[in-house]
Amino acid sequence: MQKNIILIGFMGTGKSTIGRNLSQTFGYPLIDTDNLIVEQDGRSIPQIFEEEGEQAFRDMETKLLQSLNRHTGHIIATGGGIIGRPENRQLLRKLGYVVWLIARPAEILERTSRNSNRPLLNNEDPEKTIRDLLEIRTPLYRDTAHLGIETDNLSFDEVTTGIIESARYYFGTQE
Ligand code: S3P
Repeated sequence: MQKNIILIGFMGTGKSTIGRNLSQTFGYPLIDTDNLIVEQDGRSIPQIFEEEGEQAFRDMETKLLQSLNRHTGHIIATGGGIIGRPENRQLLRKLGYVVWLIARPAEILERTSRNSNRPLLNNEDPEKTIRDLLEIRTPLYRDTAHLGIETDNLSFDEVTTGIIESARYYFGTQE
């Protein structure tokens, strides 16, 4: 295996946790696009949204994806909105095997309500926001991913194992 494994999916679907598991299993370094943006910019995501607006954050995501184009042998966990731009979707597919983590809205609400660091959900009705965004984004995730995994009834370990097996098969067919 050489190319990267990229995790996409809505907020709260476990991308960072699964990313860490995959990183340990394969011995591939983990790149978490949200963390890297925060590290490079020096501000938190809520601060970036507040001071510069969502589009500035989206520009940072695109720049970051462009800068990864020579990377191989990495696990890349992404922010939930990264699939919004067609250019990003193309860049993601070029990076390697794209895995979409899927969860029910109720599960997403439960997982995202544990902290307040997601500006898009800091409003009166996060449940509605989740449903609205899912409607827009689901076809985009589907178009971008090589594999989709329903995570609701699986443990993180089971999801990780499923991805490992499918990725090995996928990279085997690419050789
Ligand atoms: C966002 C998801 C967040 C983060 C930002 C915007 C989104 O990442 O990039 O708050 O638009 O769905 P997670 O999916 O890791 O929560």
